[in-house]
Amino acid sequence: MNNDIIVKFVNANILVNDKAYERIKNHENSNNFADSLIEELTYSDEDFFVLTEEILDQFLKEKDSEDIVVNEEGLKGSTSTENVSLQRKFSSGRPFDFHVIQDTSKKSYTNGEIKDFSSYFKSRFQKLHGFLDKRGELKDHRPINRIRNTEDVVKIIGMVNDIINTKNNHKIIEVEDETGNVNVLVHNENHKLFEKAELIVKDEVIGIIGSKKGKFIIASDIIHPGVPRIDEMSMDFSAVFISDIHIGSSTFLGDAFNKFVKWINMDFGGEEQIKIAQDVKYLVVAGDVVDGIGVYPHQEKELTIKDIYQQYEEAARLFGEVRGDLKIIIAPGNHDAARLAEPQPAISEEYAKSLYELKNVEFISNPGIVSLDGINTLIYHGRSFDDLAMTIKGLSHQESDLIMRELLEKRHLAPIYGERTPLASEFEDHLVIEEIPDVFHTGHVHINAYKKHKGVHMINSGTFQSQTEFQKIYNIMPTCGEVPVLNRGVFKLLKFTN
Ligand SMILES: [Fe+2]
Repeated sequence: MNNDIIVKFVNANILVNDKAYERIKNHENSNNFADSLIEELTYSDEDFFVLTEEILDQFLKEKDSEDIVVNEEGLKGSTSTENVSLQRKFSSGRPFDFHVIQDTSKKSYTNGEIKDFSSYFKSRFQKLHGFLDKRGELKDHRPINRIRNTEDVVKIIGMVNDIINTKNNHKIIEVEDETGNVNVLVHNENHKLFEKAELIVKDEVIGIIGSKKGKFIIASDIIHPGVPRIDEMSMDFSAVFISDIHIGSSTFLGDAFNKFVKWINMDFGGEEQIKIAQDVKYLVVAGDVVDGIGVYPHQEKELTIKDIYQQYEEAARLFGEVRGDLKIIIAPGNHDAARLAEPQPAISEEYAKSLYELKNVEFISNPGIVSLDGINTLIYHGRSFDDLAMTIKGLSHQESDLIMRELLEKRHLAPIYGERTPLASEFEDHLVIEEIPDVFHTGHVHINAYKKHKGVHMINSGTFQSQTEFQKIYNIMPTCGEVPVLNRGVFKLLKFTN
């Protein structure tokens, strides 16, 4: 059996050091454990990978997450009111080490002329080319116009123009760089590579290794910009992640939201749960604070508050209940009052005046990056998930962690241009993932997801809106009132619906 394990790792190009091997071998279900490790670690373009004890520890910590139901039950035998007020005292006056790393709100916007369009794509190409340029496998890559017609090893970097499935079920990927374009053939008999090619989408930038045969490059490998494994940052506080609250909608779950606010204020839940609340320094909101107006046809029938200003008034009242020693960071979603095209500037002060009056709220663009006591958090609402779920076989709203992993590896938040995600033709492409974050927080799909990918916590924070008419038609089951918390680096899901 142990030999089987070694063979599994060798086949996956993973070298296991002695100490890590001992621990895998002694695991109660060593075969399954090896399989799950391989699944996590082989999603990488690296030639080979050395599995050490430290990486094993990180992997086990990722599994160390917990679902917690926060309810009246938990209150029994828990802290007295007196204790709670002591804790309140203890947790106030903490220093914040908060800063904004990327906010596109104040960047000047273009008027959408053709030259802007070309500078946008140039910026995307150059940024992603930069990551691929550093990949060892693509050393000595050449511009497309300098490839000779019969060459054994060809390496290029290009943007995907088109993907065609041939009659014989091979794939032709047309790629382009600043010098020209070329058709790349991916043979369906090369199963592993063909699977990789099924994840390619238009307008992403990839590296190709292959050989030139006439007009075509016959691909032997496809390289993504990729994500290096990052070291875990230590965290002596908790951060709470929510999104898609949809205040103003008749399906907004006010009771669950009130319970959540009571918990965060340390007035609701058991002793352990209140301990987690006490640790909370940051509350991050990844868009769709309100339901908005005119977002889809006949929306007014599903609104209890039909005025956008009043929706934000109500949001200000609800967020105003949250204790003042927390910092609340709010990014917009497609239902909020902000330009729809991404990058979306922060929610407009004109519409959300009362929310802006709350002293502990910070507003940021979508996408936006903030540092929460050194924990770099990339906030993206997730509109592009619609395009990726529609385009790539095997990706769906139910498992947005798989989509997030794909976006990280592609190093772009909305790789497909011109589908459902409106992208603004800025001079610069702000949706390139330039720095690898510690936390990647998304929403939009109304279904919670959590996975760690190469050290990055990927979190989708679900919703506070019950199933809508639209979701009923498509049989989408939202996860309501389930709130992800990073509690001193450990993921916990707190449920406020019971
Ligand atoms: Fe939403």
